[in-house]
Parts: sequence; structure tokens; C-alpha cells
Amino acid sequence: MALRPILISPSLLSADFARLGEEVERAEAAGADWLHVDVMDGHFVPNLTIGPVVVEALKKRARIPLDVHLMISEPRRYARAFAQAGAHVLTFHVETTANDSEARDVIAAFRAEGVAKVGASLNPDCPVERVLPLLGDLDLVLVMSVHAGFGGQRFMPEVLAKTRAIRARGWNGFVEMDGGLNAETIPLCAAAGADVLVSGSALFGAPDLGATLSRFRAAAESAREETIHA
Ligand code: DX5
Ligand code: ZN
Repeated sequence: MALRPILISPSLLSADFARLGEEVERAEAAGADWLHVDVMDGHFVPNLTIGPVVVEALKKRARIPLDVHLMISEPRRYARAFAQAGAHVLTFHVETTANDSEARDVIAAFRAEGVAKVGASLNPDCPVERVLPLLGDLDLVLVMSVHAGFGGQRFMPEVLAKTRAIRARGWNGFVEMDGGLNAETIPLCAAAGADVLVSGSALFGAPDLGATLSRFRAAAESAREETIHA
């Protein structure tokens, strides 16, 4: 089976919000594949970040796809706003739904709005069984490797088992990991089967964004190769 390329999705949460347009261009020049946009509502998570108007402004500036991570209690209610703002990937948290049927309603609402890729995310304390029944309906699963809400937290290696469990099902969609990803933890994610890697503080905090991003991509690709040939 041909492997898809590793995608690097820098999280704008760690960018300079006073110069967001320039930060988008800096990430693109560094070789970013997607731009990760963290939307927080002060309810599902304690933090507040950005809404559809900012996503719309980013969309005007960005040439690469916007990877929108909704950490909000009512994803269905805002599906249209984020889809129209230009989300290419739109991801909700399964913990905001009571059961599979409600989760499928959110997925259907996102599809009805025409988003290109629909994702479901789960926090470290949410069991992988919450997403396994939904795999057939999804394009992407976002496995959180920190508790959603803030950048700059420490990677939780125990969540790698979820990525492996999803791949063990033979699932061929995107598995994205987010939280505490850096040169040490990226190889672990790629070896477990993740192919979309989000990084905020380790990328935007690096002295050379381009060199760091290239190093992350190379580390992911070689870890994956080693796993396949092991
Ligand atoms: C956390 C966000 C992440 C965050 C990652 O709730 O979903 O996308 O920006 O930041 P780092 O890479 O610094 O852990
Ligand atoms: Zn995120």
C-alpha cells in the first residue's frame, strides 16, 4: 500500500497574533502543508481564541488548506459559519456528542456545508472506542496528545495506543496528532501511524521555522520507514 506523504500543520496558536498574515506567509515559505487553526469557546475548553471572522481573513491570505480544529461545545451550530469562512478540514470533538448517532449528525451537518474533509477529535481521557464506529464516516481523526485548550503542554505518550488502534482497523484516512509535538515526539507519532502532524510552540518558537519544519518532516518519514521495514 502506497503511503500518503506526511503533512505538517503548524498551529497558529503559537504565532504572533498581531501579525497573523505575515505568520501565514512565514509558515507557507517554511513548507507547511496545512495551517492548523485552533478555535476555542471558553466552554468546551477554558480558553478563548478565534472565530469565523478570523478564519475568513486567514483564508484570504493563505494558499494552503486551513485545518480548523473546533474546541467548542456546539460544533453543529457553527458548521455553516466555519465552512463558509473557508475551512478545508473541519474537526469537532466527539466528547461534545452523547453517542454515535449525535456524532453522525454533526458529521452530516459538516458535509452538508460542503467542507472538503471532516474530522473528529478526542482528548487524552476519551477512549478510542468513541471514534472507532465512526471511521467509515470520517476523513480524519485528530488524536489529542495533550488536553485541548493551551499550547506548550507536554506530550502524553499513552495516547499513541489510540493511533495504533485506529490503524490496526486497517483505516486509511488521515490520523492527525496535536499537542507537544517536537523533534523527540514526532517520530513516535509517525511510527504509530499518524500522517498529519500539528506543531505550535516547537515550530513558531524555533529560530529557523523552515529548517525545523524540514527536520520534523524528515524525522517523521524515517520513523515511518523504519516501522514498515522492522
Ligand atoms: C491545543 C491545541 C494545539 C496547540 C498545540 O489545545 O489544539 O493545536 O496549539 O501547541 P503545541 O504544539 O505547542 O503543543
Ligand atoms: Zn489543535
